[in-house]
Amino acid sequence: MYLRDATLEHHREAERHVRILDPDATVATYARFLARMYGFHAAIERVFADHAALTRAGFDPESRCKAPLLAADLHELGLDPNLLERSALPDLVSLARALGAAYVIEGSTLGGTFIRSRLTLDVPMRFLAGYGAATGAMWKVFGAICDRELAGHAARDEAVTAARETFGALTAWLDEPARDAPHPNPALERRLHA
Ligand code: HEM
Repeated sequence: MYLRDATLEHHREAERHVRILDPDATVATYARFLARMYGFHAAIERVFADHAALTRAGFDPESRCKAPLLAADLHELGLDPNLLERSALPDLVSLARALGAAYVIEGSTLGGTFIRSRLTLDVPMRFLAGYGAATGAMWKVFGAICDRELAGHAARDEAVTAARETFGALTAWLDEPARDAPHPNPALERRLHA
């Protein structure tokens, strides 16, 4: 699919910023990953929920919400999602741009299934489980929306640009040059080391 082909490098780069499958990954590594993903999903899901054209196109923001799953996992690890920062996002105003961004988020549920099957940490995995048995079906529905709404070259180009920008924003947001460097959120850091 063109979105996949156009973002292969971006996916590879995003993967490099997810450290939870590293052999030395700990519960703290995982908690930081969830905290960052929460800050990204809470921000982007708010945009999707308020996006009239996206909803009209058949994208149901409510059934695709993953922030509550992240919040539940974080709570189980003793962290309060309300204390976490939210990420900055690219421009998602047009329908094509919103679909490009949604591609990154929806596609990551496929990666989540893969990661979950390989993760050996004893941690809550509601977020990684995503839509569970419905993951394939949800992906198919989303693909059909993209096929319908991104039929022209201009719309496709716009979606690709937004998908690349979304990967870029997420990668920057996940960027943790040294896993043990202090987390930018002091409240979270205090809890992780309490
Ligand atoms: C260690 C980290 C990651 C691993 C190992 C991983 C792995 C995978 C795998 C195996 C697939 C293909 C699944 C399938 O076709 O059934 C996939 C798809 C995808 N992943 Fe990841 N992923 C990771 C991180 C991410 C992140 C952080 C994002 C962005 C939020 C992301 C976005 C996507 C997208 C958009 C697709 C769909 C590609 C398509 O169009 O088919 N992935 N990932």
